[in-house]
Amino acid sequence: MCGIVGYIGKKEALPILINGLRRLEYRGYDSAGVAIFQNGKIKKTKAVGKIDSLSEKVKTADMVGTVGIAHTRWATHGGVTEDNAHPHSGCQDDLVICHNGIIENYRELKEKFLSGHTIKSQTDTEILAHLIEVFYEGDLLTAVRKALSEVRGTYGLVAMHAGEPNKIVAARLGSPLVIGVGENEYYIASDTSPMLAHTKNVVFLDDGEVAEITLDSMKIFNVDHKIMDKHVEKIEWNEAQAQKQGFDHFMLKEIFDQPTVVKDAIRGRFSLEDGAAHLGGLNMTDEQMHQVKRVVMLSCGTAYYAGLVGKYAFERLAGLPTEADVASEFRYRDPIIDEHTLVFAISQSGETADTIAALREAKRKGAFVRGIVNVVGSSIARETDGGTYIHAGPELAVASTKAYTNMVAVLILYALQFGRLNRVSVATGERLLRALLEIPEKMKLVLAQSEKIKAIAQKYKDYKDCIFLGRGINYPVALEGALKLKEISYIHSEAYPGGEMKHGPIALLSENFPIIAIATKNQLYEKMISNIQEAKARKAPIILIATEGDAQAKEISDDVIYVPQTMELLEPLVNTLALQLFSYHTAVLLGKDVDRPRNLAKSVTVE
Ligand code: G6P
Repeated sequence: MCGIVGYIGKKEALPILINGLRRLEYRGYDSAGVAIFQNGKIKKTKAVGKIDSLSEKVKTADMVGTVGIAHTRWATHGGVTEDNAHPHSGCQDDLVICHNGIIENYRELKEKFLSGHTIKSQTDTEILAHLIEVFYEGDLLTAVRKALSEVRGTYGLVAMHAGEPNKIVAARLGSPLVIGVGENEYYIASDTSPMLAHTKNVVFLDDGEVAEITLDSMKIFNVDHKIMDKHVEKIEWNEAQAQKQGFDHFMLKEIFDQPTVVKDAIRGRFSLEDGAAHLGGLNMTDEQMHQVKRVVMLSCGTAYYAGLVGKYAFERLAGLPTEADVASEFRYRDPIIDEHTLVFAISQSGETADTIAALREAKRKGAFVRGIVNVVGSSIARETDGGTYIHAGPELAVASTKAYTNMVAVLILYALQFGRLNRVSVATGERLLRALLEIPEKMKLVLAQSEKIKAIAQKYKDYKDCIFLGRGINYPVALEGALKLKEISYIHSEAYPGGEMKHGPIALLSENFPIIAIATKNQLYEKMISNIQEAKARKAPIILIATEGDAQAKEISDDVIYVPQTMELLEPLVNTLALQLFSYHTAVLLGKDVDRPRNLAKSVTVE
């Protein structure tokens, strides 16, 4: 997501900061800004768009100094404007901060502490700047600590105050921050790539830590304000490796991002006490929600398969007839849509032409149209009358992974929100939410098997075709698994509902045609096992995704990937990760360009 760079030392800060921002461009951003200490004051410049725009602007801004902070912003709260770009200040310009993450309780903070303050932007970050200003009594470290003790949310933060030149305060909770240690100089950044040209010696801040960095010292405090003796690590990565945080490809990094970003999708959007979800972006009164008689999911590619999971969730939890439609088909049918239909336009990029055209058609027909989108301020976000950002962070690999899981998580919350109107009890809602909160740890258990999955991929990589099978909620998982494998490995793969295999695809099966089946312990387990027996009888090699502890799975398959059990509705959030890793390793072993597969585009803005 956003990027932070800071420098304190004897060199001219501006070129270091601007070049540092360039090293962070890969994370995705839509505006940028920089602040520098200069003659007892702080000077700020911000620009919308590329770093080149900022770089042009600072040429005439006369910014000279050896201490500064800078930021690339990827919009989350508020559109892409100069006012919303960081660094942010309080009412006075003598305090500046750059922030990554989300301040969840910014509205409460504003009400409680900031009466009389003039807020210039729509960002949660500016509220934090004002809050630090409220607590500032000549010591920035104390002010930052006091402000952060009021905050609920996540942050990677750097702050400077004109009253204390040659000092940067940095803090981390849930959003990474690294300090590079040079000769009488320090670099601060959200990952190591901006500092690698200057130093390989770094200190990684841990959650809850706050650092006070001056020209000649760096003090790091833990949550209890005790000074920590932190280990200085030597980084051996080059810049490209650093951008991928040591992973070989962006896709693998993004697969491993999932336990973290899925938390961002659900954070602050539910109440355990009420067993309910509260997605404010839905923008509908209870009365309007009661008017909804039908739900339609519109999307393409991976987002379509997320929509299919949403269909199962809405039918089960909300009891509403739900359809998931491929956007390019929807727009050319004469779809039955009216003012009792709720339409979700689901899209990572928010720019997919077919999805945009389909949502316009739904709007014309009078439906409630809401977006489920990753990229803030994108066309779909702007053209819908409300909706929810999935907060997956920039997804750079063409094949979508973390956006899918975050779409599914948000759809499940929406289904619960509607379900609680009449069908779902507080207790059931609470049980679902508790299970959802366990998902990140369960995802980690799947990711920990990456090497084992690689060994299975090695065994099957040379087959030319395969079929993915799943039933119920795992049918969309099978579809997504087959899509991922064909997208990046170019192996011909299809997906069928388990029960449908005997109606055609079974004719293809032989010892040269593997089956990848999801047969986890849910209400359809026995049925799925029968379908697998049918395939086994035709000598098809069988790879199973099975529930941990299922001994039968081993007996009837050639290879098993075990996944932890969760509530049936939540299984896509766990099972899909095993298939993502299988596709990834297969493609790498075949020597394919995993992050940029042939013929595919990340964002398809043509019909
Ligand atoms: C392209 C991408 C897919 C993506 C689809 C929908 O085909 O290659 O990975 O799922 O578009 O994109 P969206 O941005 O609307 O989710």
